[in-house]
Amino acid sequence: MHGDHPDLALLQRSQAAIAAWLEKAVSTPTSQLAGGGAIARAEARLAELHEGRPGLLMPSATYALWVALRMLGTGPGDEVLIPKYDWAASLAVVLALGATPVVVPTDPATLTIDPAAAAARSGPRTAAAVATHLFGIPADVPALRLALPGVPVVEDCAQAFGSTLDGRPVGVLGDAAVFSFGPGKRLDVGELGALMLRDDGLRQRALQLSAHPIRQRLSGIPAPEAANLSIRPHPLAAVLLDAALDADDAQAAILERRRLADALLANTDIDVLGVDARRGVADRSVPVLAAQAEATRLPRTLKAAYGEVLDIEAIVEGAAGIQRIAFITAAPPPLEFPTLRPTASSSHELREGR
Ligand SMILES: Cc1ncc(COP(=O)(O)O)c(C=O)c1O
Repeated sequence: MHGDHPDLALLQRSQAAIAAWLEKAVSTPTSQLAGGGAIARAEARLAELHEGRPGLLMPSATYALWVALRMLGTGPGDEVLIPKYDWAASLAVVLALGATPVVVPTDPATLTIDPAAAAARSGPRTAAAVATHLFGIPADVPALRLALPGVPVVEDCAQAFGSTLDGRPVGVLGDAAVFSFGPGKRLDVGELGALMLRDDGLRQRALQLSAHPIRQRLSGIPAPEAANLSIRPHPLAAVLLDAALDADDAQAAILERRRLADALLANTDIDVLGVDARRGVADRSVPVLAAQAEATRLPRTLKAAYGEVLDIEAIVEGAAGIQRIAFITAAPPPLEFPTLRPTASSSHELREGR
């Protein structure tokens, strides 16, 4: 193997994961079509970590979000509440389903969807709300549910695997939840996502919308839907996730982030985002207000780095929608997004509440 191979780290992790899988006693072959082996095991392990909620592996969080919103019946004529600051997956999926995105302001202390603002923008056409736990900081999903009675809530946990709210893991607070194990995520297996569901009925519906007919039949669906998009990940991604879960310690990640936040709170007069008694944040960096990061003397061990977050409201209005944001980090700075340009399809169909 070439020591300077650009894929060295991913390939070495993959080799180690396959070697570990060969040592494990398994009863069924790994198959996405049948839902066996590493696929079944990864789905069972995710369920164990999420209060027994059933789950399905997906190729990515974006596909998982499409399945979630489609499963909840979102289509043309419907509106979906999405947060102002977010990755663009929520916007892309709402548009792909022919529905109308309604952008909701975020709570400045957590950068997550503001429940009162969501209620103000909801109406008879509201089909669902997406609560993204941006930067690993849990959105207040219980408050959102109280503010939106009868509206299904999908949690976007792409950046928040392992984070907790009131002692419960994110991913169990809404009707469905999506996760990403893709590039740059805390657990990165190259590409992979997951969809967690409130109950077995929703899982069966999600299987019908996304799984190969063989798997639908094996899962007890009497009349499998053949004309679906057959959305399924490569089975080796499940082998990699199994190894990544073996090595993961979400509690240690939460404690490390809390130490970093405490160091900031003790040494500076900065407003640290997403730090309170209710939230455990399993993410490396701590977002803060940019002007304060510049103005504050930081302890020597910490650095202010600058990343970017997407302003979804600006994107639907046809602007580039890149918002600079500061992070205080003890680890390497977050990846910067390339400059994104809105597509024609993302600049129409916005309904900015009523
Ligand atoms: C908040 C959020 N949602 C969704 C996604 C999409 O995840 P994936 O790349 O697995 O589709 C990302 C990825 O960056 C994200 O950060």
